Amino acid sequence: MSDLGVTARKPLAAIIASGDAAEHGLARALGPLSITAMGVGAIVGAGIFVLTGTAAAHYAGPSIMLSFVFAGIACAFVGLCYAELAALLPVAGSSYSYAYATLGELAAWIIGWDLVLEYAMGAATVAVGWSGYVVSLLHNLGLDVPAAYAAAPGTIVKLPDGRTVSGIVNIPAALIVGILTFMLVLGTRESARFNNVMVAVKLAVVVAFILLGAGHVHSANWHPFIPDNTGTFGEFGWSGILRGGSVVFFAFIGFDAVSTCAQEARRPQRDMPIGILGSLVICTILYIAVSAVLTGLVPYTELAVPDPIAKGVDVIGQPWFSVLIKLGALVGLTTVILVLLYGQSRIFFTMAADGLMPTMFSQVHPTLKTPYRSQLLIGAIVALVAALTPIEILGEMVSIGTLFAFVLVCGAVIYLRRSDADVARPFRAPGAPWVPIVGILLCLALMLGLPLVTWLRLGAWLVIGLVIYFSYGRRHSRLRRA
Ligand code: ALA
Repeated sequence: MSDLGVTARKPLAAIIASGDAAEHGLARALGPLSITAMGVGAIVGAGIFVLTGTAAAHYAGPSIMLSFVFAGIACAFVGLCYAELAALLPVAGSSYSYAYATLGELAAWIIGWDLVLEYAMGAATVAVGWSGYVVSLLHNLGLDVPAAYAAAPGTIVKLPDGRTVSGIVNIPAALIVGILTFMLVLGTRESARFNNVMVAVKLAVVVAFILLGAGHVHSANWHPFIPDNTGTFGEFGWSGILRGGSVVFFAFIGFDAVSTCAQEARRPQRDMPIGILGSLVICTILYIAVSAVLTGLVPYTELAVPDPIAKGVDVIGQPWFSVLIKLGALVGLTTVILVLLYGQSRIFFTMAADGLMPTMFSQVHPTLKTPYRSQLLIGAIVALVAALTPIEILGEMVSIGTLFAFVLVCGAVIYLRRSDADVARPFRAPGAPWVPIVGILLCLALMLGLPLVTWLRLGAWLVIGLVIYFSYGRRHSRLRRA
């Protein structure tokens, strides 16, 4: 048994059965449209609205389009693996559950702990992006938020008059996390409906940017398409496209969040693959189009700003559209935070049901049917982190943590195809084992595009997780006590 000799593997049949059991208490309220919308809601966010500009300006230039293609292809391979596992194991908990069924409890714990980086820290990252756009919008409306109270300590903020101030605390970022946590506590159904509307608004704004912007593109801005490498790895040239891909990979994070709501899907075997792959395809097409238009509107060297899309709109020369874009970005970022906060609570829910986390994380409110205590605690911690941490540190941690989880998910598909070859798979990733293998290689390549310090932070995070597992989870594990 490849569970590192420490823990048992959870029986596959038991996991599949637990997804069907009514005993988990969560309502089966979500159909394929809601789930796809949830995916798009999770995906389109700070990556496209904030990081596209910085990645183009610092790493890839107009060839940021190729970075998106590269990151999108990697996610498609991983997405196929997710779809297979999500359809096979229609349970909450995402890749955590998949690891439990394949590599054993310790590996499952490591993934669950790692996913905190993706979901909780991801929500904090996007909340910081939200804060940037809301401050910019309020400025348009004549209201100036004191810069020191909209930035983390240690962040240097440049004011419009050229002066600089140091951040103290990011209050808008904490505030949005608080509001959305409250909504999630009130109920999945209401949140999903609200999410569908917000996703529609976000998509409309992104498509409007593409259509209105396309007519104003100066094709000269696309030359040179791949700027010459500066001599440093990752700064333009082909290595810049890779580094750009590692950065804008953040823009794709979230398609896997769909798998965390499998327990609340009406027909998970059909709805999960539709939700995961559908949302991924929609977003990849939009990203390539947005980055093409953006780098065609504005010389890439000028895109390292907190609101690059709005800068692109300035070229179009319609001030009203600039305000609309900022509003759309805010809506977009809001939906991402919502889905990530939701996903985190569902992962903890499953981990607590397995005994690896305290039971309060699996307690469902009798009438609201939501894991309210868990949601509130997660909201409080995410709000605190968002208030106090700069976006660059958060974003890189989220990317490396997520890529690491993706590698393990692809590995789980290969493992299960061998260990449980006969189990009926409602959706099969085509071309296995090559699809998962290529998925692993592409994710590793993207991880290599991230700096060493980020690798070290990931290592530290995993060590903390192991300490918690051996002092709590291992002793309370249901599987081990059974
Ligand atoms: N993909 C999400 C975003 O770009 C996390 O905000």
